[in-house]
Amino acid sequence: MEVPQKNLALDLVRVTESAALACARWLGRGDKNEADRAAVDAMRLCFNSLDIDGTVMIGEGEKDDAPMLYNGEKLGRADGGPAVDIAVDPLEGTNLLAYGRPNAISVVGVSPKGTMFDPGPSFYMQKLVVPSAAKNVVDIEAPVQHNLKYIAKALEKDVDDLVVFVLDKPRHKKLISEIREVGARIQLHTDGDITGSLMAIDPRSEVDVMMGTGGTPEGVLSAIAIRIMGGEMFCKLDPQRQDEKNMLAEAGMDIRRVYTVGDLVDSDDLFFAATGISGGTFLKGVKYTGHGAETSSLVMRGKTGTIRYVEAIHDWESLMKFSAVRYD
Ligand code: FBP
Repeated sequence: MEVPQKNLALDLVRVTESAALACARWLGRGDKNEADRAAVDAMRLCFNSLDIDGTVMIGEGEKDDAPMLYNGEKLGRADGGPAVDIAVDPLEGTNLLAYGRPNAISVVGVSPKGTMFDPGPSFYMQKLVVPSAAKNVVDIEAPVQHNLKYIAKALEKDVDDLVVFVLDKPRHKKLISEIREVGARIQLHTDGDITGSLMAIDPRSEVDVMMGTGGTPEGVLSAIAIRIMGGEMFCKLDPQRQDEKNMLAEAGMDIRRVYTVGDLVDSDDLFFAATGISGGTFLKGVKYTGHGAETSSLVMRGKTGTIRYVEAIHDWESLMKFSAVRYD
C-alpha cells in the first residue's frame, strides 16, 4: 500500500482562485486586456509559490496580443520539486468577462514533463467531445447527422433529446444548420469551448456533445480534464487562415490526422483546476460580499480520479494583511 502523496491539484485551486478573484472586478467593463493582465499577474505570482519545476507548454495571449504567461516560461520554485508541463488559461473567455456574459473561467492543467502536446503554430482545432458511453460510436470525419444519430442511441435518447454545445461563429453556419436539420437541440455560446467540453462529459449537465472549431490550446486543457473525468475528444487541426496553414506545413504538422485525448496528454498523472469568474451554467462566478468574496471551483487528480467541487470563502480583513495581490 502506498502512503498518500501530495495532491498538487489542491495547490492549483489556489492558483485559479487567485486569477479569478483578481480579474472578476472587470465583469462587464468592456476591457478584456486589463482583465487578462490582472488574471495573468495573479496566476504567475501564485504559481511561483509552488514547489514544482514547471514549464508553460500551453500559454495564452499570442492569438489576441494579450498579456501572456508565455510558452516556455518557467514557473514554480523548483527546489527539487517534480518537473512538470503546465497548461494555463488564466481568463478563458476574455470577451465573456468583458461583456458580462456567463462562463468565463480560470483554468490550469499539469502533467509530467514531456507528456503534453505542443500545439506549435496551431491556433484552431475541430473538436468532437462525447461522454464515455458514446466514444466508440462516433467518427469526426463522418457527417454530423450520422454522429448525432449514433450518440443518441448510445445515450439511450432520441436525437431530438440531445443538446449540442456549439460556438456561435460564422464558421459554424453549416454545422448549425446540419444539427438543426437532424432535429437535435443546440446551446449557442459566443465563447468558451473548454466549458463546452466539460459540460459534454459532465453527467450533471444538460449538454450531451460539443461540436465545432475552437482554440488548440483550449483543446489541450480540455483533454486533461476529459482524461480525468472520462469521455473522449476527437480533434483535427483546423487552420482558419492561409498563414496558419503554411506554418503548420512548415512545422510538419498533418491536418488530416485525428487526435484523441491520449495524443494530447500522454499520462494519467494529471492535475486540473478551474474557478468560475463570471458565473453561469457550469461554475458559479466570483461573488463579492462587501468584506470578501466567494468562489466556486472544480479540482481533479488523474491518478486517483478524485473530482472535488470547492466552494471557498475569502475574507479581505485577514487576507489583505499579507496577500501580494489586491482583490478588495
Ligand atoms: P479567449 O479567452 O482567448 O478569448 O478564448 C475564448 C474562446 O472562445 C475559446 O473558448 C475558443 O476555443 C476560442 O476563443 C475560439 O476562438 P475564436 O474566438 O477566434 O473563434
